Amino acid sequence: MRTLRALVAAALLCLVPVLPAHAAADITYDFEDGTTQGWGPRGGGVSVAASADAAHGGTSGLLTTGRTATWHGASIAAPFVKGVTYRVTAYARLVTGQPAATIALTVQRTPTGGETTYERVAAAAVTDGEWVRLAGTYLFSADSSDLQLYAESSDATSQYHLDDIVISPQGDPTREPISTDFEDGTAQDWSPRAAATLQPSAGAAHGGSRSLAVTGRSASWDGPAINVLGRMGKGDKYALSVWVRLGPDTAAGRLGLSIERRSAGTTSYERIVPPKDVPAGEWVRLAGTYTLAYDVDFLSVYVESDGGTFPFYLDDFAMTYVAPKPIQTDIPALKDKVPFTMGSALTRPDTLGVHGELLARHFNGITPGNELKWDATEPREGEFAFADGDHLVDFGVRHDMTVRGHTLVWHSQTPAWVFEGPDGAEADKETLLRRLENHVRTLVTRYKDKIAVWDVVNEVIDENQPGGLRRSKWYEIAGLDFVRTAFRVAREADPDAKLFINDYNTEFPRKREALHALVKRLKDEGVPIDGVGHQLHLNIEQPPASYVEDTLERFAPLGVDQQVTELDVSVYTDFVSSYDSISPELLAEQGHRYKELFDVFRRQAAKLSSVTVWGESDDVSWLNTWPIPRLNAPLLFDHDLQAKPAYWAVVDPSKLPPLVRKLEAPAGTVKVDGKRDLQWDLLPDAPIARVGDVSAAFQARSAPDGLYVLAEVTDPTVNVTDRVTFTVDGTAHTVTRFGGSRAAVNRTATGYRVEALVKKGADVDVTVRDRTTTTSWTGKVTAVPAVKLTSAAHRAPVLDGVVEPAWRTAPEIRTATWIQGTSGATARVRSLWSGSTLYVLAQVTDPTLSEESANPWEQDSVEIFVDPGNGKTKGYTDDDGQYRVSFSGRLTVGGTFDAAGVKDNLSAVAKVVPGGYVVEAAIKLPTITPAEGTLLGFDVQVNDATGTARTGAVTWNDSTRRSYLDTSHWGVLRLVRT
Ligand code: XIL
Repeated sequence: MRTLRALVAAALLCLVPVLPAHAAADITYDFEDGTTQGWGPRGGGVSVAASADAAHGGTSGLLTTGRTATWHGASIAAPFVKGVTYRVTAYARLVTGQPAATIALTVQRTPTGGETTYERVAAAAVTDGEWVRLAGTYLFSADSSDLQLYAESSDATSQYHLDDIVISPQGDPTREPISTDFEDGTAQDWSPRAAATLQPSAGAAHGGSRSLAVTGRSASWDGPAINVLGRMGKGDKYALSVWVRLGPDTAAGRLGLSIERRSAGTTSYERIVPPKDVPAGEWVRLAGTYTLAYDVDFLSVYVESDGGTFPFYLDDFAMTYVAPKPIQTDIPALKDKVPFTMGSALTRPDTLGVHGELLARHFNGITPGNELKWDATEPREGEFAFADGDHLVDFGVRHDMTVRGHTLVWHSQTPAWVFEGPDGAEADKETLLRRLENHVRTLVTRYKDKIAVWDVVNEVIDENQPGGLRRSKWYEIAGLDFVRTAFRVAREADPDAKLFINDYNTEFPRKREALHALVKRLKDEGVPIDGVGHQLHLNIEQPPASYVEDTLERFAPLGVDQQVTELDVSVYTDFVSSYDSISPELLAEQGHRYKELFDVFRRQAAKLSSVTVWGESDDVSWLNTWPIPRLNAPLLFDHDLQAKPAYWAVVDPSKLPPLVRKLEAPAGTVKVDGKRDLQWDLLPDAPIARVGDVSAAFQARSAPDGLYVLAEVTDPTVNVTDRVTFTVDGTAHTVTRFGGSRAAVNRTATGYRVEALVKKGADVDVTVRDRTTTTSWTGKVTAVPAVKLTSAAHRAPVLDGVVEPAWRTAPEIRTATWIQGTSGATARVRSLWSGSTLYVLAQVTDPTLSEESANPWEQDSVEIFVDPGNGKTKGYTDDDGQYRVSFSGRLTVGGTFDAAGVKDNLSAVAKVVPGGYVVEAAIKLPTITPAEGTLLGFDVQVNDATGTARTGAVTWNDSTRRSYLDTSHWGVLRLVRT
C-alpha cells in the first residue's frame, strides 16, 4: 500500500494524480491518523473532520455536519487514472438521531469542452443504527477536469459518519471475460433497452436450468442489453457468443447481436451477428467478433430481431478478449516484391494494433473501404462528415502511402436525398448535377495533396443494357452528364489528382467492351479520364487469368493508366455455399490462382501502376458477409493475419505447395486430323498458364481405345524445339510442332494445334515447350459420361400452348437423368430459334399437379438453363439464366447478382393437357448474335411436386444436382438453320 502521506500529497498537488496506468495498489482512507486525509467540505457551511465519535474499524472516522442541500457533503479530488476501472467501497452511518436517508458516492467531473456531469458510483439506505457498506465500480474514461468523489445524501441536512473508504484499481477489465448464465435467478447485468421485460426463467435453458425470458418488446431493437463500457479496449478484438430461442407461440423469427456505441455525442449501431433464422423450439447460437475502433463513452451489446416484437429466451452469453497473434516480421514486405504500388483497402479498425502493423509493413497504398463514400461523407445535404475519412487518409499520409479516394459517384451507398426533389418527386437534372458538383468539389478540395487517385465514378457500366450504361438513378435523371460533370469538377478541384473510372467484371469480354467504348467516347470528347480501375473481385475458379491480361492489353492503347483496385479471390463459386472450415488444399489452389494473376500483373506492369487488395487479411474481408454471411478467405493474410499460400504466390511462388489440377474427360471420340471437331467445342479448353509468349489450353475425351487429347498452343515463333508432351501414368507421348505418332498438328492464327490419341490413365501431365520456356498442367483426369448435344431448328413458333407443326422440325430430347427420386414427371423437349430468341417446348407427363409449396422449385414446373456463351463456368456469369415455368404459367428466373442480367429474358405460356402440361417458352439472348452453328450451354429440368414437397426431379444432361448454381455440367444446344 502506498503511504498515505504520499498519496495525500499527490491528491492535493494535482487534480489527476499520475499513477501507473494499471495501478495495482489500493487507496485506503481510514482516518486513523486523526486527519481528514484529503477529504474536505463540499458546499457552504459544511464541515468535515476526523472524529472518534464513531469508527467502522479502529478508533476514528470522518464526520460530516452543517449540510443544507442534498449535494452537500464530504469530497476529495478523486485519484482516478483514465482508462482504469475502480472498485469503490465505503462504510456509512448516520449520526444518532438523524432520520434514515440514502447516502451516495458520486463522481463530479467536467469533460474537456463539455458540461459538468455527475455519475453515481454507489448508494445505500443508511440509518443511525449500524454501519452500511456502499460499493460500486467506476471507470474514468474521458479526459476531464475538476474530478471529485463525494458523499451526498437524499436528506439535505443528514449528518453522517464515513469510514474505511477503499478505492481499488481493478485488473485490466478489458481482458476479463464476461459470462452470464442466469443460474442464480437474476438478470445478471442485463437490462432492457426500452419497454421489454427481462425475467430469469426456468421455462427454457440452454445450459443449466435457467435462461432469461424477454417479453413485452416495443420494437425490433427493444430487448436485452448488457453494458460493456470499459470492458473493451480500443483496437482490441472480442469474441461474443449468446444462445437464443424463440418464446412460446412464436413460429419463426430472426435474431441477431448488435452493439450500440456512442463517441463524442454520436450514436452508432453495428452488427456483430446479422439477424439469422431461429427455428421454433431450437437454441441457436449467435457468435461473432467485434473490434472496438473508437474512443467511446457508451458501449452496449444487445440482441435484436430484424422485425417484430416476439418474445425470446437468451442464455449463456460470453464475451472474451481475443489476443492477437503477432504479425510475422521475418517475411518479406509485399511492397518490396512487386513493380507497382501494393495497396490494401482498410476501414477504421484496421489502423489499430496488429492490423495497423500489417498494413504499415506490407503496403504502400490504401483505399478507405467505406469512409469516403457518399453516405459516409454527406449523409444530409450540405452536412459533411469527415472524421473517419480524415483518420484513414492521415494514416496513409503518415505512412507515406498512396491514398486512393473511393468513390465520388456510385449508385450504391448513396443517401436517398441525393435523388429527391420537392414533394416526393424525383430531383431534376439541374438539382442533381448541382448536388454532385458540390459533393465532388468538397471532397476533392479537402483531400487535395493527400489523395493521389480518385475513383471518380464507380460501376456505371451494365453491359446488358443497350448502350452499355447502368440504369442507375444518376443515369436516369442526368444521362451521361453525371459522369462528365464528376470528372470535370474533380479535375478543377485538384488538377494533380489522377481521375479513374472503376468497375467490376471488366475482365469479362462483354463488360470489357462496354467499358472500353465508354472510356473511348468520353476521352474523345475531352472528359479528363486518367485511368481505368479494374476491381477484380474473382473466385477460385473464374475467370481465367488470361481474361485479365486481355483486358489490360485492350485498354492500354487508349492512353489510360490502369490499376487493379479491389482484388480478392473468393473460395466460393456461387452465392449459396458455405464451408465450416477452409481446407489447406483449397488455400493452395487459391495460391496458384494468385500466382497466375500476379504473373499477369508483373508481365503487364508497364500498363499497371497499382494493385490493391480489398482488405489486408481474411478476417476483415467484406466477403465474410457478402453476398451472404459465410466463412471466406479471399486475401493474402489469414484470419489471424498470418501469411497464406496466396501471400507466397506473390513474394516467392517456389514456396507454394504443388498443385494437382482436375479435369473431366467426357466419353467421346474425335478424328485425329488437326482440325477442331465440334466435339471439342462442347467444352472450353482448360488453360495452361502463359510463360513468356507461350501459353496453351487443352482437353481430353475418353474412349475405349485411349484418351483423345487436344492442345491449342499459342507460340508465335516457329522453332524446332516447339513440342507438346503428354505424360499419362508415367508414359510420355511427345508431339512436335511438325508431327508425331498417332497425332496430327495444324497451324493456327497464333501458334499450332495438336491432336493425339494417347494411352488411358488418370495421372496426366501436359508440358508445352519452346526454345527457352516450358509451361505445364499436372493433374488427375477422370472419365465421365459424354456431354449431350442437341440442336434447335430455325423457326419462330406462336406461344399459345398449342404444339404447332414448326416444332417438329427440331429433334426431340427427353429428361432422363434423375437428380431426385427415380421416377415421376418427365418432359419431351424441342427447341427453335429465330432472331435473337430461343424457343423451348416442353411436353410434360405429370398427371397430378401442385403449386402448394411457396418455393417455386417445389411446384410442378419446368426449368430451362441457358448459357449464351457456353462458358461451362463453375458458378453463373451474368448472362447465364435459370428460367422456370410452372404448369400454371408462373415465371421465375435465377441468375447471378439477383439475376440482374437475365430477369427480363423469359416469356412463356403453360397449358394443362390430359396427363400433364405443355410449356412454350421464349428466352431472349441479348448478349450474343445467334447464328448457324452457335453453341449454347443448355439443360432442362422437370420438378415433380406432390402437395407441398418436391418428390422428383429429372434433367436432360446435368447429374450433379448443382445446375441452379453451376453451369459447368449443362449439355449443349446447337443452333442450325435448316
Ligand atoms: C464494399 C465494402 O467493402 C463493404 O464494407 C460495404 O458494406 C459494401 O461495399 N465494389 C466496390 C466497393 O466498389 O465499394 C465495395 O465495398 C465492394 C464492391
